[in-house]
Amino acid sequence: MKTLVIGAGNMGLTYAEGMAQSAMLNRRNLMVFDKSADVIARLRDLDHFDVYESLEECLPQADMVFVAVKPYHCDDLFEEMKPMVNKEQIFVSLMAGVTIAKIQEGLQVKKVVRSMPNLPAQVGKGVTSYTESPEVSRVELLMVRNLLDTTGESIHVENENYIDASTGISGSGPAYVFYFMNSMLEAARKMGFSKNDSKVLVSQTFEGAVELFNQNDLSPDTWMDRVASKGGTTRAALDSMDDNNVKELIKEAAYAAFDRAVELGEDK
Ligand SMILES: NC(=O)c1ccc[n+]([C@@H]2O[C@H](COP(=O)([O-])OP(=O)(O)OC[C@H]3O[C@@H](n4cnc5c(N)ncnc54)[C@H](OP(=O)(O)O)[C@@H]3O)[C@@H](O)[C@H]2O)c1
Repeated sequence: MKTLVIGAGNMGLTYAEGMAQSAMLNRRNLMVFDKSADVIARLRDLDHFDVYESLEECLPQADMVFVAVKPYHCDDLFEEMKPMVNKEQIFVSLMAGVTIAKIQEGLQVKKVVRSMPNLPAQVGKGVTSYTESPEVSRVELLMVRNLLDTTGESIHVENENYIDASTGISGSGPAYVFYFMNSMLEAARKMGFSKNDSKVLVSQTFEGAVELFNQNDLSPDTWMDRVASKGGTTRAALDSMDDNNVKELIKEAAYAAFDRAVELGEDK
């Protein structure tokens, strides 16, 4: 299975590196194409995969093509790709808001997988949701999944509505976590902790809480009850959040991202 990644920016390079480091593809079967001369020079120095500066040399020999350019570059890219693609190739899009129908129409192909990755893919802790056009077989989908999993975990979703929905949870989600971390960092600094101690206090608290959550089958509510005793400090904090409706506001924020993802898809 020869795989080509088009666009070696944040996401494309993350996936190419994930695939290169996994046992899924050997070096000969992984190709990367980018239009930027600087990027190509840097990738050639890295020497982790075969790097191409012309689509003619790599696209026709690919069985699977990951498309990782910015959504606003996809029209030009599809025009360039169209004469070189064939109907057996599988196209895996990492582009936010670009629908399967648009990719099929732009490239005149049928086999398309649309996915929504997230930033922690850069450290092998990403989560990618994905869905496919009916023309992609189960075996082909399994191969796609194995490649997506080289950057973390993936979940298969029924249709593209869930891709937009997962944008509101996992795609944009890392920023919500950073938002929460930022507030706690600011509070720690205000209480007098040094920058470094604040960072340790906050990051270790997040990491520890996530680890507890992952290692047990308990709900967040149960964990909150375990930390918060009646009349105690944690209860005071949780009551303050409840009084300020923080839970509902976070849900609203996730929906704002979901709605925006739908809107962006309609604009394209
Ligand atoms: N970053 C994230 O957290 C994230 C999360 C979810 C989804 N995504 C999706 O991932 C995709 C890539 O995002 P990114 O942040 O990785 O973008 P990026 O860093 O800008 O990378 C895109 C790369 O593709 C190159 N490129 C542009 N047009 C090209 C063409 N026609 N042929 C070949 N290469 C081309 C760009 O070169 P130039 O810089 O010279 O234009 C750049 O090197 C986007 O569609 C985005 O929606 C990203």
